[in-house]
Amino acid sequence: MRQKRIVLYTLAGIILASCTKTDEKYSRWEVTGGTREGIRYSSLAQIDTANVHQLQVAWTYHTGDADTVNHSQIQCNPIVVDNVLYATTPQLKLIALHAATGKPKWVFDPRQPTSQNRVLDFILNNNRGVTYWTDGKDATIFYVAGSALYAVQAATGKLNEQFGAGGKIDLHDGLGQDADDLFITATSPGIVYKDLIILGSRVSEGPDAAPGHIRAYDVRTGEQKWIFHTIPQPGEYGYDTWENTEAWKFTGGANAWAGFTLDEQRGILFAPTGSASFDFYGGNRKGNNLFANCILALDAATGKRIWHFQYLHHDIWDRDIPTPPALVTVTHEGKKIDAIAQPTKTGFIYVFERETGKPLFDIKEEPVPPSAIAGEKISPTQPLPAKPEPFMRQSFTEADLNNLLPAESFEDIRNQFNRYQKGHMFTPPSREGSIFFPGLDGGAEWGGPSVDPTTGILYVNANEIPWVITIADVEQSNTAKETYAIAGKRLYLNHCSSCHGVNREGGGNYPALTDMQEKYTALQFVDFVATGRRMMPAFKHLSEQEREAIASFVLDIKSLRKKKYIPQDSSVDLRAIPYRITGYNKFVSKEGYPAIKPPWGTLNAVDLNSGGIVWRIPFGEHPAFPQAATPTGTENYGGPVVTAGGVLFIAATQDGKIRAFNKRNGKLLWEAKLPVPGFATPAVYAVNGRQYVVIACGGGKLKTQSGDAYIAFALPDDVK
Ligand code: HEC
Repeated sequence: MRQKRIVLYTLAGIILASCTKTDEKYSRWEVTGGTREGIRYSSLAQIDTANVHQLQVAWTYHTGDADTVNHSQIQCNPIVVDNVLYATTPQLKLIALHAATGKPKWVFDPRQPTSQNRVLDFILNNNRGVTYWTDGKDATIFYVAGSALYAVQAATGKLNEQFGAGGKIDLHDGLGQDADDLFITATSPGIVYKDLIILGSRVSEGPDAAPGHIRAYDVRTGEQKWIFHTIPQPGEYGYDTWENTEAWKFTGGANAWAGFTLDEQRGILFAPTGSASFDFYGGNRKGNNLFANCILALDAATGKRIWHFQYLHHDIWDRDIPTPPALVTVTHEGKKIDAIAQPTKTGFIYVFERETGKPLFDIKEEPVPPSAIAGEKISPTQPLPAKPEPFMRQSFTEADLNNLLPAESFEDIRNQFNRYQKGHMFTPPSREGSIFFPGLDGGAEWGGPSVDPTTGILYVNANEIPWVITIADVEQSNTAKETYAIAGKRLYLNHCSSCHGVNREGGGNYPALTDMQEKYTALQFVDFVATGRRMMPAFKHLSEQEREAIASFVLDIKSLRKKKYIPQDSSVDLRAIPYRITGYNKFVSKEGYPAIKPPWGTLNAVDLNSGGIVWRIPFGEHPAFPQAATPTGTENYGGPVVTAGGVLFIAATQDGKIRAFNKRNGKLLWEAKLPVPGFATPAVYAVNGRQYVVIACGGGKLKTQSGDAYIAFALPDDVK
């Protein structure tokens, strides 16, 4: 066996060494997403369609810091450089592991003890990857935890003190606008171009969001080298797409939360942006709102705009672009063209010539329904591409109602369906409740697509879940006379109910806030609301009094109720919005099953050359319908990786499996049950000629158990 292994390794070594230079680039995984092209492709072929069923666990690493009570997650796509794997943990520690064994090399914990004796002074966000930089001598890992960008020495796991303030930069600084009290972090890793680390951000989705400007820092010193205003300021291109000339001062969002891709040779950075705040009403930001919902092509060296395309004007559907575009080369009308392919939450893929932004397939402005919300003014049209074919259903009619439901439940959702506004993928939010399908989580999501550069076929997993968004008034009242409890309730409805429910009942990934007095003291609660945690934004901009008022309401503290609530000067509150939404609600039956017929999740192969669908399969098995005649598919988060071995690896499903499919036809070749779902993208790499597939198993989403493992798979020693 030993002998065979040596032969095998030597062979693999020769194969690796004899690869072309392009293949060489794709044989490593030094960047989240594989390479800066964002195509999640590996040229490694030791694991192939014939032997993939023999994959075994090669090693497992437990981070030891899962938080099952608070549904912690790991969304990280690890990177591997010089046989060391870098990744993050549920509590956002940075870890370095020996990539062949999973044995730890070092652990960096960003949490520093603070002088104040406060329980929760660190914002936990999700982390989707880290960034490696080296000049051949020094090597640094960059990543964001809370609101800081950290520079950690790759060799030692110690902070690189030369960078920023003692090894970190506060993302609140350098925006050119006061954002000190606003929520800002980053889930996606920055990208390195020459000696710059370029970073986007995650900000609040509410009326109180920080602006989503993109920034580049010197990798050695942390000095801010450029900033691109995703919300243009007076005199800048796009400023006139905002009717309210002051809107740039108080509107936030339009942030590049999904990270970047980079054409290194041309020096072009591609950045996808999200919607402007507030997500569901734009009456105070009338106009098309550049550069929200755009693909931006920027000069990576200077941050200057080269071209842009806005795929959705004046977004009130929360349809951020969820992943950076993939850099591809396609054959179009007989010519090879360097292009980018942008999957979206709506199921459309937009394909553009890389340097000019010229679309490869026609894009037409199509009329969309009007909004009935007073004060709103939406775009009469939206730009829709003729091709590629959409990779998901884009309409939801009565005939699509979920016929797997028991009769009574079916009647129930049919009645609801009839009450709601519906009928178009751009049905705007309404007071009756509007069906959003495609939904808030896609179509495509942050896992992103894979592209096989040898064929030009793009692989993308999709969610097919309808949501219902309902607009309600923000209660106006004479605040000066309010008692704490009334003020607390009003503040709760304005700031908290969209996630935690009008009656604090929670739902989906949002916890109920009903028995909080058993968990938090008033002081802890007031602190918690200021710092936030993971998907819970920080509410630093609420005054302590306002937070106390919310505490008195949520914790039902009688003594606090007697105090008078004294509002701060609220005479000019530009951020004030007359509407709120009643919740981020998926349209589900009372048992919690989607109101639409399966599939609820799919995996799709799209030919970017012709624009046609190559194959499409239901993806995942819903735990309640394991024996359904055709698999139901499940909601899924995390992307695929396609390989030269002919295999597509993906976890992502709610059923907690990792699977390998034949990339040519979508046939299942192998699957393994993970301890908890792997809501992340695998990384594929080799050490000493042995190929590994590693996946973060963090669970936590979709009410699944949280976990703390990185699991690497490889072929057994004696497989030839
Ligand atoms: C954008 C959605 C969102 C908004 C808005 C929001 N929260 Fe949360 N909240 C969450 C999420 C998600 C969690 C779970 C956090 C985690 O994963 O650790 C959470 C957790 C909490 C918890 C902890 C619950 C527990 O069981 O320990 C409290 C308390 C809380 N939120 C209070 C508030 C209050 C008060 C407001 C309004 C000022 C608010 N939240 C607004 C999303 C939100």
